[in-house]
Amino acid sequence: MLIAVDGPLASGKGTIARALAVHFNLPHMDTGTLYRAVAVEMLEAGEDPRDAGRAAERARALDPAAINERKIRSAGAGMAASVVSAHPEVREALLRLQQEFAAQPGGAVLDGRDIGTVIAPHADLKLFVTADEESRAWRRHAELTHRGESISYDQVLVQLRARDSRDAARSSAPMAKAADAVELDTSDMSIDEAVRAAIHIAQHAA
Ligand code: C5P
Repeated sequence: MLIAVDGPLASGKGTIARALAVHFNLPHMDTGTLYRAVAVEMLEAGEDPRDAGRAAERARALDPAAINERKIRSAGAGMAASVVSAHPEVREALLRLQQEFAAQPGGAVLDGRDIGTVIAPHADLKLFVTADEESRAWRRHAELTHRGESISYDQVLVQLRARDSRDAARSSAPMAKAADAVELDTSDMSIDEAVRAAIHIAQHAA
């Protein structure tokens, strides 16, 4: 079974994708880590994430096995990732990696922004996970402060809006709900409820 999970940041899509992978014993790829890793490499080298050529070079040379999970999770990395990911050359460079992962014979779960629309339009199940802006901002704020980052709720909300609009407005593979995706609104759900709902949908789709 190939499952595509898309949605805006802090909608719960990552948690849901991981839980589906465990439940159905499938390999999982969080595709946002690829864009975050390219962005972090650029920031660390003092490069500008708006530099499409340099970003694409780094994307082509990216070794997913070498991604440092700790470094890529900051709010700054997320912001820079949304700049880097708007370059069509970068998306092109990361396409094969994701499509090969999706083509594993036993199936897979991938989560991101364009899985159901571009990476795996033939997926057996497409979930589009949403939640209202405030719920998402509170969740991301809790996550970042838990990680030791000092950032206010208002700052998180401003960054969330900026990333949402950049991800949805870019010309290359914008964040979008595929026509045949099932939408899951997690605004009023606990993590457990959201995961249970997603598993229920997947069991009926299989
Ligand atoms: O999901 P996450 O917040 O880790 O993604 C970071 C950024 O990477 C997103 O804001 C988005 O700009 C980009 N991204 C993307 N396409 C994907 C996954 C992530 O453009 N499939």
